[in-house]
Amino acid sequence: MRVFVAGASGAIGTRLVPQLIGRGHEVIGTSRSPEKAERLRALGAEPVALDLLDRAAVRRAVLEAKPDAIVHQATALAELNFSRNSDRTFAETNRLRTEGTDALLVAAREAGVDRFVAQSFASYRTAREGGWVKTEDDPLDPGPPAKMRESSAAMRHVEEVVTNAGGIALRYGIFYGAANDGLIEPVRKRQYPIIGDGEGVASWIHLDDAAAATVLALEHDGPGIFNVVDDEPAPVREWLPVLADALGAGPPRRFPRWLARLFAGEVAVVMGTEARGVSNAKAKRELGWQPRYPSWREGFVAAYKSTAPVERHRGEPGLKGETRWATSS
Ligand SMILES: NC(=O)c1ccc[n+]([C@@H]2O[C@H](COP(=O)([O-])OP(=O)(O)OC[C@H]3O[C@@H](n4cnc5c(N)ncnc54)[C@H](OP(=O)(O)O)[C@@H]3O)[C@@H](O)[C@H]2O)c1
Repeated sequence: MRVFVAGASGAIGTRLVPQLIGRGHEVIGTSRSPEKAERLRALGAEPVALDLLDRAAVRRAVLEAKPDAIVHQATALAELNFSRNSDRTFAETNRLRTEGTDALLVAAREAGVDRFVAQSFASYRTAREGGWVKTEDDPLDPGPPAKMRESSAAMRHVEEVVTNAGGIALRYGIFYGAANDGLIEPVRKRQYPIIGDGEGVASWIHLDDAAAATVLALEHDGPGIFNVVDDEPAPVREWLPVLADALGAGPPRRFPRWLARLFAGEVAVVMGTEARGVSNAKAKRELGWQPRYPSWREGFVAAYKSTAPVERHRGEPGLKGETRWATSS
């Protein structure tokens, strides 16, 4: 197939491109910078310059590329300073998920492309009641915290319009495995604490495994929504100390809920104490996918041990107003 990858130069795109080529597909990959375009060429893709928020340019690029399939992996999450207002942090990504997805789908329709796979997100989205591990059929959170409502709506939008068009939305877990993963610095600096009992559950995915599932999704008939996460959804109190250790950081600090709410806001408290994880059973069963890193336990070590600072953390930073609270998308 000729596969048009929007966001080919990003964290998942650069892993997806070689895997697609390895399966015998041709790849047309987008980027807005000449340097990244050269990197895509080196990976074996045909680079194309594209701003996904320019509807006319999207139409032109897709019609000229004449693809058989389109993958949407464009997000704007690099170099983010996570704040207590998730919607502000994710504003650009939300536009890529709404306007960007719409533009790609319109172009796909005109170009006669009926294979479409788009990036969505799994963690922190399902209703915060009942069991701690949810499936694709379980209801989404009807009342997300105020500061993440726009982001939640943008993810719902991607899933609705893509599946209505016959495509597949992949709810990835929190990505790890890249040198610029958003959680690395806050965890190294012990700025990402366990809140309350640390019961909030997260689902993780190594970027290589996410890319492998994406290739399989492209070769699968839609419509559908699949959780692409590892086998071990886990509460913060379990995964955070393992991540800190893999990064050579000191053990995470613990904050009571009220203090975390004061300094970090409601979104961080909900993620740290109430969020549910998700099951990957459907992706394994229907896509025939198996993660190479079934658990973050071995994945964190494989991804980060060699990047751990030589000197282990010394001293404990004070509790300051500017404490950064990291989350992924
Ligand atoms: N599920 C998750 O946990 C999740 C999801 C996404 C990202 N992340 C994390 O966020 C960090 C940064 O992600 P990243 O390196 O993938 O960077 P990114 O800034 O999120 O870029 C992703 C891709 O989107 C493209 N893009 C951004 N804005 C665009 C626009 N207006 N039009 C067209 N394409 C656009 C970028 O292309 P250009 O070459 O044009 O910049 C790039 O190819 C990574 O650590 C990653 O793991 C996590």
